[in-house]
Amino acid sequence: MKRRILVVILLAAYQTSTFSQTKQPIYKDKNAPVEARIDNLLSLMTLDEKIKQMNQWTYGKNANPNNIGDQMRAVSPLIGSLLYRSTNPEYRNQIQKKAMTESRLGIPIIFGFDAIHGYRTVFPIPLAQSCSWNTDLVKESCEISAKESWLSGLDWTFSPMLDVARDARWGRVAEGYGEDSYATSQYAIAAIEGYQGTNLANKYTIAACLKHYIGYSLSEGGRDYHYSDVSMQTLWETFMPPFEAGIKAGAATVMSGFNDITGVPASANHYTLTEVLKNKWGHDGFVISDWGSVRNLVEQGVAKDKKEAGMKSFLAGVEMDMVDNVYVDYLPELVAEGKVPMTAIDEAVRRILRVKMKLGLFENPYVDVVPEEKRYLLPEYLKAAEELASESMVLLKNEKETLPITSKYKSLAIIGPMVKDSINIMGSWEGKGQPKNVETIYEGLEKEFKDKATLNYALGCDFDGEDRNGFKDALEAARKSDAVIIFLGEKKHWSGENGSRSTIALPKIQEDLVVELLKAKKPIILMLSSGRPLELIRLNKIADAIVEIWQPGTMAGSAVAGILSGRHNPSGKLSITFPQTTGQIPIYYNMRQSARPKLGHYQDIPRDPLYWFGDGLSYTTYDYSDIKLSATQIKKNEHLIAEVDVTNSGNRDGKETVLWFINDPVANISRPMKELQFFEKKLIKSGEKVAYRFEIDPMRDLSYVDSFGNNHLETGDYFVIVNDQKVKFEIVD
Ligand code: GLC
Repeated sequence: MKRRILVVILLAAYQTSTFSQTKQPIYKDKNAPVEARIDNLLSLMTLDEKIKQMNQWTYGKNANPNNIGDQMRAVSPLIGSLLYRSTNPEYRNQIQKKAMTESRLGIPIIFGFDAIHGYRTVFPIPLAQSCSWNTDLVKESCEISAKESWLSGLDWTFSPMLDVARDARWGRVAEGYGEDSYATSQYAIAAIEGYQGTNLANKYTIAACLKHYIGYSLSEGGRDYHYSDVSMQTLWETFMPPFEAGIKAGAATVMSGFNDITGVPASANHYTLTEVLKNKWGHDGFVISDWGSVRNLVEQGVAKDKKEAGMKSFLAGVEMDMVDNVYVDYLPELVAEGKVPMTAIDEAVRRILRVKMKLGLFENPYVDVVPEEKRYLLPEYLKAAEELASESMVLLKNEKETLPITSKYKSLAIIGPMVKDSINIMGSWEGKGQPKNVETIYEGLEKEFKDKATLNYALGCDFDGEDRNGFKDALEAARKSDAVIIFLGEKKHWSGENGSRSTIALPKIQEDLVVELLKAKKPIILMLSSGRPLELIRLNKIADAIVEIWQPGTMAGSAVAGILSGRHNPSGKLSITFPQTTGQIPIYYNMRQSARPKLGHYQDIPRDPLYWFGDGLSYTTYDYSDIKLSATQIKKNEHLIAEVDVTNSGNRDGKETVLWFINDPVANISRPMKELQFFEKKLIKSGEKVAYRFEIDPMRDLSYVDSFGNNHLETGDYFVIVNDQKVKFEIVD
């Protein structure tokens, strides 16, 4: 009530000061207070104009083959938003001009698209990026993505995806930042800062969209779109923190999801969408549904028809309906029948208008039109893409210093379906990335090893199928080479949306190729390009070196070649666990302790995962000093400094990430065995020693959240964990 009185006062003051001079309606005056502008505009809008603001239309086929959209319906000048797949800024401006000049009130359209890991310059998939632990590079990649997107006619990207994922059968694990909630929170902040900059009204900035809100990664069995049984404890402990961090970082929008959250689907969940997101966190932007997820409430059995689906979704707190026209078709009736109050309509439209005003769309509805060569793939963009790709790659195994490739190898067998691939190497949601712009692995190797080594290429086999006819040539190439580098992996649509797999193992033909090449009795270097952790229990035994290169994008060739030659010293560390086998899922680093830790594990495979969260080797060696604590006992309101010195004891410069974990061994709610609470990546030159410091704020770093979202900090013993050290300290009252 106070707010409204304030707005009335502001409005009155404003009108006496300037209105008489301008004659234009207040909502068109950029100097007027935003809320006053919105009040004025709402007072002028008809119900039809309001409802059309809450609908997003689409145009053409989107990047994801699973989402073939219909051709754009007749583009009314009243539409609120367009899911825009053209790369043509002029076309956008033409459509926008219709809205600005052919409608009664001239409300600009907001144009959105899935620029998930780049637009035309394609960066590594987000799961790869999260293995870089370099939030600066992640932020830079989002800045570049925003620039290319804005110059292509976009105001808004449906990114970052914040689904903390622990079941790699679920293909969308590729789109998130791994299995840890804290890490995902930090990458969320970096992405939002990259996309939105310091002022959304500035050129080259675009609105971020936190998705999928919430608990989507628990889709049963990793089958996309399925029911997700999310306990309130897991909801608050694992899934809420990244979204809360994103809201606090100023994310303009949120996207709901397809999943049914323990009986109340994400797109009709008043608790998450309104009680938490709006009332508890104070989000002042808007929520858009996922593609047709309003209509899907019928399939999910919580709405008898689209009309009821529209009512439930809208009243739960979804302000914009993505592409299924449910709101446009049924909200007028629902308002007329008194089932949807006008006040709720006004509040929803207010949120949408607020984002459009923050974007400056009323004053600057059009984007600059520049030629493609000034818009895309600038040299500095490609440099950033290679840097992030190389820092995302994880050296998992390197026996007998097989890598890097040095002069000891005069000839290299380059084998596998990924070597000359320019499509799958970009991964899912490649935006407007084009294969012709991708530097393939083979092209990168030719450049890197020109005059240094002979490359003997053979395809070996396809990604899948039964055709082993290529094995013979591959074995021949291996026999005449000093080392064998095999590039295996996944097709892009094997992960990403609707990319659920019953096994995370590579197809048998790819594993059989490696076994066949053993006959050459040469060092075997395995380079894996995937959108998820893979089942490596068999390949790990026969490869001398293994690098997970993920799906590195446009600059794949240079990044991979740089890792192989040592020009890039590997610095990636896993942000997600690699199980021994698919059957070991779910297994993740921050599990809770078993009642009988030594028992209960699968009898047929080793107890631990094959590679842990945080695993990743370098071509140099790092020696950690003992952890030093500023105290061994502090009060709840005091801070504790934990420090460790890391020495680069090898002969190559390198970047080392220190992951700081805590453990609370006894609490009223059981705690994970360890929890990441801080990380820092630094360059350490050969022979140099660098200090890493973690200032522990007990309420922030040691407290736990209960199933109501309340934080608790208990006294007692705690441990700080770094590398393989575990040091105790105490919190007292
Ligand atoms: C898809 C995805 C969502 C994406 C949207 C628009 O179904 O679930 O992540 O942003 O549709 O393409």
